[in-house]
Amino acid sequence: HLMLAATAAVALSVSPAFANCDDGEIVIKFSHVTAAQGHPKGEAAALLAERVNDKMNGKACMEVYPNSQLFNDNKVLEAMLLGDVQMAAPSLSKFEKYTKKFRIFDLPFLFDNIEAVNRFQGSEDGQKLLHSMESKGLLGLGYWHNGMKQLSANKPLLMPEDAKGLKFRIQTSDVLQAQFEALDANPQKLAFSEVYGALQTGVVDGQENSWSNIYTKKFFEVQDGVTESDHGVLDYLVVTSAEWWNGLPDDVRSELKAIFDEVTDERNKLSREINLANRQKVIDAGGVVRELDADQRAAWKKAMEPVWAKFEGDIGTDLLEAAKASNA
Ligand code: LMR
Repeated sequence: HLMLAATAAVALSVSPAFANCDDGEIVIKFSHVTAAQGHPKGEAAALLAERVNDKMNGKACMEVYPNSQLFNDNKVLEAMLLGDVQMAAPSLSKFEKYTKKFRIFDLPFLFDNIEAVNRFQGSEDGQKLLHSMESKGLLGLGYWHNGMKQLSANKPLLMPEDAKGLKFRIQTSDVLQAQFEALDANPQKLAFSEVYGALQTGVVDGQENSWSNIYTKKFFEVQDGVTESDHGVLDYLVVTSAEWWNGLPDDVRSELKAIFDEVTDERNKLSREINLANRQKVIDAGGVVRELDADQRAAWKKAMEPVWAKFEGDIGTDLLEAAKASNA
């Protein structure tokens, strides 16, 4: 009884969006770290669960755990391989332990905008990357967009020199580490759930993220301002355990994939709009947004350029060329 009560208490405290799975339904736990609402990933995960629970009622049941309630991104992939969670959507910067191919997405100033990212992900090369971790037990089901990254700090950032000596929180990516080192800044890898506190207490001075993350996690409140740099992309891989996925009954797997593709298509089209809305919300809430002129932007690009040569070998010249071509 005690154990049951403890389990129930834990279940209640994390309050998943859809907790009412029936006996006999395949339970799909979807764990992620961002806000559930007003955010490209949060909204996509919620819609996916809504459709699965509606159309696959009796067969499958999806529970979404947002806001790092269940796992942070550093733990979720291990948990997935252990069968504790079935789906997640970590950012593409968080797969370094499993593949070096995704380093392409972290190269600064590679993609001009989210439309270019979308073209590359949809290409044969981009689709092939979904399978790049199968030998490690992870299968990519598709990409979800967030958007382009912006820079913020506890002082104005207009030229690359302004970042010199500052401590920046980064995701767990060696490319992002090299990017801040190229600015003579000090990068620190921290979980997303720790960013607000680290900025507030001065453990770090700045960070980079999309408008959706900067607004929904209130980073702008503990920063001097946000510089609209659009210097890189923050996107997601919706990932599952290959063993779990391949073990699903054929009809369940194909129905789930069809719903997933439909939701992905619908929600990805809205990511840009959601980020622009969050940008506006930052301004409405009194946050400072600084735009860069062409010369300032060129200076950031030049300062970050050395990063490319460091990682070209891991990525491969052909893939890099294909990614560049997606800007056209
Ligand atoms: C981050 O760690 O900054 C992002 O990957 C969080 C997210 O999932 O958008």
